[in-house]
Amino acid sequence: MDGREARAVRQRLESLARAGVRQLPRARLAPPPAASLSAPPSAPSVVSQAGAPAGAADVAARQASLEILRGEVAACTRCAELATGRTQTVFGAGRPDARLVFFGEAPGADEDASGVPFVGRAGQLLTKIIEACTLSRDDVYILNVLKCRPPGNRAPLPDEVANCRPFFERQLEIIRPDFICCLGASAAQALLQTEEAIGRLRGRWFTYGTAQVICTYHPSYLLRNPAAKRDVWEDMKLLMARMGLEA
Ligand code: URA
Repeated sequence: MDGREARAVRQRLESLARAGVRQLPRARLAPPPAASLSAPPSAPSVVSQAGAPAGAADVAARQASLEILRGEVAACTRCAELATGRTQTVFGAGRPDARLVFFGEAPGADEDASGVPFVGRAGQLLTKIIEACTLSRDDVYILNVLKCRPPGNRAPLPDEVANCRPFFERQLEIIRPDFICCLGASAAQALLQTEEAIGRLRGRWFTYGTAQVICTYHPSYLLRNPAAKRDVWEDMKLLMARMGLEA
């Protein structure tokens, strides 16, 4: 094993320990993803940063970088309609060195009022999904494609996604998660730069830089279609198995 491989193993073990894993199964924990969509062109810096262990100084540096970026996001006026309509931007929340990131669509009314992602009804359901995965919101990082609430909670427009892309890409570069779970079509299509429907994207593995990506239905969709919770649980079981977490 060379130095780079040893670093990768150490990082994986630290990441597992952070997620509460105390024992390792005999089988390999994280087989390489059966990726079918390649990383977007802007992802190479994600690749180049992978492998660094997240010690206390590193975590503090990531937090500081995120705070600088949070300030840039708060000052953004690229989307005139969204910038004038928002109460505040909703940057993201969680561990700056999270192993797992949940990637949503855009803030709703509750998030616009509080400045925190996924705190409304859909957010409460997301919290339950995270807890079903034996994690807590503090173990993960939660962010959205858009940082401003679209009027009437409409889906993000292509121009708005393009304007926010540098922000979510930089967030992911700083956090360098091992796993990203896209919630719904807007998040999955924005991250993977595809137009495939969420029903076809869910339940499969993709890559974004060094992160393994899984897509599932958005919690808001589950509130309207509770029968789809079964599919989401299947997706979460795939995610947990690859993360080495036990249901
Ligand atoms: N839906 C999202 O996609 N994100 C939020 O933060 C809240 C609801």
